[in-house]
Amino acid sequence: MNPVYEKLLKCYDCYKKRIDFVPKAAIVLGSGLGNFARTVDVKAELPYSEIEGFPVSTVPGHAGRFIFGYINEIPVVLMQGRVHYYEGYPITDVVLPTRLMKMMGAGILFLTNASGGIDPSFHAGSLMLITDHISSFAPNPLIGPNIDELGTRFPDMSHVYDEDLQEIIRTTAKDNGIELFEGVYAQLTGPSFESPAEIRMLHRLGVSAVGMSTVVEAIAANHMGMKICGVSCVSNLAAGMNSTPLTHEEVQEAANAVAPKFEKLLTESVSRFAKYM
Ligand code: HPA
Repeated sequence: MNPVYEKLLKCYDCYKKRIDFVPKAAIVLGSGLGNFARTVDVKAELPYSEIEGFPVSTVPGHAGRFIFGYINEIPVVLMQGRVHYYEGYPITDVVLPTRLMKMMGAGILFLTNASGGIDPSFHAGSLMLITDHISSFAPNPLIGPNIDELGTRFPDMSHVYDEDLQEIIRTTAKDNGIELFEGVYAQLTGPSFESPAEIRMLHRLGVSAVGMSTVVEAIAANHMGMKICGVSCVSNLAAGMNSTPLTHEEVQEAANAVAPKFEKLLTESVSRFAKYM
């Protein structure tokens, strides 16, 4: 059997033995949203370290576990902490958690992250609805023998971010007085931040925000037929757009500051997803 699929099945077995909960939506919590679980009616937890073969994050602020519970009666699984390609994991490990959450039962995937803002109208603390992505600077997670049990060899990527879910998030932001920008997100590998020349290049390519995650997860989820949506928290202006050097601490602080607004948007939007499940 394909070793990538075999590992996934082993992780699924481990989840099945430990957790009696079937989520309908999956939420990946990016930087700053680590405390989001407070707003969820939590029923169970599964630390990544207790799942055999599961990639465990090494990044400060990315403590890793699945949290199972309800957001207004909707059964969800949260990923508190994700793994990034720059940590050295094979790209198939980076998307293993996403695939696993689909196997658990989640048909919807809500991706969140922190990013550098490239669109000149953004500021630190802006929230951006992801309308499309550029994956060309990160390895494609579907490289290797296709896992036919998960999806097709050449999946279409014309509508990765579900239009209906986007509209719900847009309306939810409006109803709650939350300013929500929109744009294209590009994933680069990191871990170094971009150079100003790279940011100018991305700007010319139509990128509004840049980060080190999300796109590979969206590709793997789309391959498996999940409905996907994503919101990015612009934690800083991208390199060269202001005079101070970028630091991970700055990213975390800014993301923490936006957290209440972001949490509200997330909770309210997911509550309105019910009719799509
Ligand atoms: N670049 C890449 N990733 C990021 C940034 C950035 O400026 N900010 C937060 N994540």
